[in-house]
Amino acid sequence: MEKLKKFGSWAVVTGASSGIGKEFAIQLAGKGINLILIARREPLLNELSKKLKNRYNVEVRFASVDLSKPNFLIEIENITKGLDIGLVVSNAGGARMGAFSKIPMMDFEAMIHLNVMAQMKISHWFSTRRIKERKKGGLLLVSSTTAFQGVPYAADYAAAKAYILNLGEALNFELKKEEINVTVLVPGPTDTPGLTENQDADMASHLPMKPQTVDELVTEGLKALLKNKPSHIGGSMNRIMAKVMKILMSRKAASAFWGKMMYKMVTIK
Ligand SMILES: NC(=O)c1ccc[n+]([C@@H]2O[C@H](COP(=O)([O-])OP(=O)(O)OC[C@H]3O[C@@H](n4cnc5c(N)ncnc54)[C@H](OP(=O)(O)O)[C@@H]3O)[C@@H](O)[C@H]2O)c1
Repeated sequence: MEKLKKFGSWAVVTGASSGIGKEFAIQLAGKGINLILIARREPLLNELSKKLKNRYNVEVRFASVDLSKPNFLIEIENITKGLDIGLVVSNAGGARMGAFSKIPMMDFEAMIHLNVMAQMKISHWFSTRRIKERKKGGLLLVSSTTAFQGVPYAADYAAAKAYILNLGEALNFELKKEEINVTVLVPGPTDTPGLTENQDADMASHLPMKPQTVDELVTEGLKALLKNKPSHIGGSMNRIMAKVMKILMSRKAASAFWGKMMYKMVTIK
C-alpha cells in the first residue's frame, strides 16, 4: 500500500464527508498522501480535515462543491491548481429509490448529473491532465453490484452504476499505455450512512446479508487499484453471490429477484 505514493503526493476524494469516501480519505492520509476533500457539507469536511492533519501530519484542503451542478469542474480545477494530483477517488453518489413513475423527473436529472456526468467529467479531466503532465496516475470509480442487472425500484440508480462500471473497465484498457491505473470498485451493501440512513428505503432491516465494513471495502479497493484490476467486487460474499447469480440466473430472473427484495424496502410504491 506504500506504493500508492508512486502516483503522486496529492489525491482528490469526492464524497469525502461520509461513508466510503470518508474512509478513503482516512486510509490515504494514513499512507502520507495529501488530500483534497470534496462534498457539499462544509462543516463535516472541515472537521475531517482537522482530524487528518493532526493525526497523520498531511496537508488537507477541502471545497464544498455540488457535483450535480453542470460547472462543478471549475471549482475542482481551482482548488487543485499547481498540485501534483496523482490519484482521484470518484466516489460521490446518491440514489432516488421507489416507483419510477412516482418520483419527479427533476430528481432523476440531478442523480444523472451526480452519478453519470460527474464521473465522466472527473475521469476526463484527470486523465487529460495526467497525460499532459506525462505522469503515472490512479483513478478509482465507485459503482455498485446493482450495475449487473436492471434493478426495479432503483432503476435509474442501477442504470447509472452500469454506466460507471462500463466506463471504468474501458478506460482501464485505454489508459494502460499512459501508465494510468483505472479500477471500478463495485460495493455490495456496505455499512455507511448512505445505506443505514437512506430516506427512500429501509435497507438495513431487509438485507439478506450483513453489510461489509467500510474499512475492509476501501482497503480492498486500494489494493485492486495498485494491481490495476479493471473492476473489483467488494467482499468475498458479494463476489460469490455475483458469480452464482451469473451462472444460475438469467438477467430477467436476476432483475425479478432484486425487484421482490426492493419492493419490501422502498417507501414510495
Ligand atoms: N453503502 C452502500 O451499501 C453502497 C453500495 C454500493 C455502492 N455504493 C456507492 O458508494 C458511494 C458512496 O456511498 P456511501 O454509502 O458512502 O454514501 P454516503 O454515506 O451517503 O456518502 C455519500 C457521499 O457523497 C456525497 N454527495 C452526495 N451528493 C453529492 C453532490 N450532489 N455533490 C457532492 N457530493 C455529494 C455526500 O456528501 P454531501 O452530502 O456532504 O454532499 C457524501 O460524502 C456512492 O457512489 C454509492 O452509490 C454504496
